[in-house]
Amino acid sequence: MCGIVGYVGWRPARDVLLGGLRRLEYRGYDSAGVATVTPDSTSVAVHRAAGPLDNLLAVVADAPEDSEDVARTGMGHTRWATHGAPTDRNAHPHRDAAGRVAVIHNGIIENFAALRGELEDAGVELASETDSEVAAHLVARALDAEPALGLTAAVRQVVNRLEGAFTLVFTHADRPDEIVAARRSSPLVVGVGDGETFVASDVAAFIDHTRDAVELGQDQIVTLTREGAVVTDFHGDLAPTRPFHVDWDIAAAEKGGHDFFMQKEIEEQPAALADTLRGHLVDGRIVLDEQRLSDQELRDIDKVFVVACGTAYHAGLLAKYAIEHWCRIPVEVEVASEFRYRDPVLGRSTLVVAISQSGETADTLEAVRHAREQKARVLAICNTNGAQIPRESDAVLYTHAGPEVGVAATKTFTSQVVACYLVGLALAQTRGTKYTDEVEREYAALVASAEAVKEVLATTVEPTRALARELADSKAVLFLGRHVGYPVALEGALKLKELAYMHAEGFAAGELKHGPIALIEQDLPVVVVMPSPRGRATLHAKLLSNIREIQARGARTIVIAERGDETVRPFASTLIEVPVVPTLVQPLVATVPLQVFSAEVARARGYDVDKPRNLAKSVTVE
Ligand code: F6R
Repeated sequence: MCGIVGYVGWRPARDVLLGGLRRLEYRGYDSAGVATVTPDSTSVAVHRAAGPLDNLLAVVADAPEDSEDVARTGMGHTRWATHGAPTDRNAHPHRDAAGRVAVIHNGIIENFAALRGELEDAGVELASETDSEVAAHLVARALDAEPALGLTAAVRQVVNRLEGAFTLVFTHADRPDEIVAARRSSPLVVGVGDGETFVASDVAAFIDHTRDAVELGQDQIVTLTREGAVVTDFHGDLAPTRPFHVDWDIAAAEKGGHDFFMQKEIEEQPAALADTLRGHLVDGRIVLDEQRLSDQELRDIDKVFVVACGTAYHAGLLAKYAIEHWCRIPVEVEVASEFRYRDPVLGRSTLVVAISQSGETADTLEAVRHAREQKARVLAICNTNGAQIPRESDAVLYTHAGPEVGVAATKTFTSQVVACYLVGLALAQTRGTKYTDEVEREYAALVASAEAVKEVLATTVEPTRALARELADSKAVLFLGRHVGYPVALEGALKLKELAYMHAEGFAAGELKHGPIALIEQDLPVVVVMPSPRGRATLHAKLLSNIREIQARGARTIVIAERGDETVRPFASTLIEVPVVPTLVQPLVATVPLQVFSAEVARARGYDVDKPRNLAKSVTVE
């Protein structure tokens, strides 16, 4: 949600910033802008444009820099609108009235109305409807009042007055070799190169130039110069930092010959599953990445809550099947935005599993905070090293899916599912409900899932795309499943809604007769996720009856079933066969064709698959 990049160094700043913004575009694409500072300039130069980044590129191309005056310092922003429509005027960077201070912002300044009122009372005219602009005026006023203060101290004064979650980056026309950034809750990392320093919401923005990064903590301010970064807290004291090396390859953040990122990320699932599982079984024991909980604390757990949003919530629903089955502990799964508002019963013996690809999702972060206030233990499943949710949790298990640029979650979803299963196995082992040999067998089955997904990719992608093109003009699509097929149905429907803007609903197939069957009409496409006829014979028989019921009412049935399940063939208008796998692995193989289906329907309808309207990759507002 909003992408930020800042640069101080020796390269032409605009090139660095525009390249960085291209990599951050997934975080927001309502509008974009850059600000640059050159020595002796009297104001910060700003270019902005509503719409996709290409619009900004056109604006910048029309405003070439003087070769003697190429800026080496600047910052760029890609916006996901919260306050104020996505217009040129509301695009970042924003400046004070004199144009000497510029700011970019990610997050929400909750007390902006009061601050805006204060500025207006003092005669300041604000140029935009955003909450962000106030920060530029406040810093300018702090410097006007006390010119010797310096940019860092002025920023410190201002951020101490702000409420909410924010990352702010400032430049000043008088400080052509410096930028200052402040972080509260929203993400920010520093990149340290040779004679150049970067700051960004995501390492992807500077990975072309350096892999040496420093993670900023909560309530920290960083002052960047060519020589490096100085990090202080909101009181002005030097703050501890955590340097790290980015180990993923640049190719991981590129499309690599695919038409869109989502397609590449769907195909990366076998590797993502393998990487997520790798190294977590050591001498017969499941190990997490960071474990700040003792075995005794894990043994004492008597209840598990899983909290997450959207697709991550669907991974959480699958966690319930595995954890209850393996550990015999009750598991509740709840969307994070609802969790803390209903006073859930939590205590020292409750384990809260927070699932978040980004590790930034505000709803999930607040659920984590609420759980910890109630003394519950929190375990995070996250794809982003060092993000806020894992930082605030007692234990962490990272999904090693690599960067996911397409806004719709694909490889991170399947990786989250196996990570949840690892948590289930770790709990079962510590609590003694599973012996080592059983854990090893389950782990081996999970490892084998990568090959099964590879097979699905090899056999189902083309026929599923053809089907998607055929159904691209449908009014709606329904998705049905039972047991672990139910979260798959929900996920299939969510993908289609968000990418193809098509009405789609997922139902537990048993609920059909309690209402949704009224929706069935001639030729309505209904996707059915079949359980195995072997492992789940009763469920299989029930679902066959459900398919008959909808087929009798004229629906077009698209059935995802285990290879060799001939009983289902007569009831399937289209049959998508997936490999024979254990029950808990079935969601991994059944989800893949649904991801491909939604992407292809979106493409056939002419939509941007990687950047669906109104959505952002990480949602840092509640
Ligand atoms: C859907 C999707 C979203 C996210 C949700 C949670 O394709 O991507 O529903 O799953 O916003 O995001 P994280 O996992 O970053 O907390």
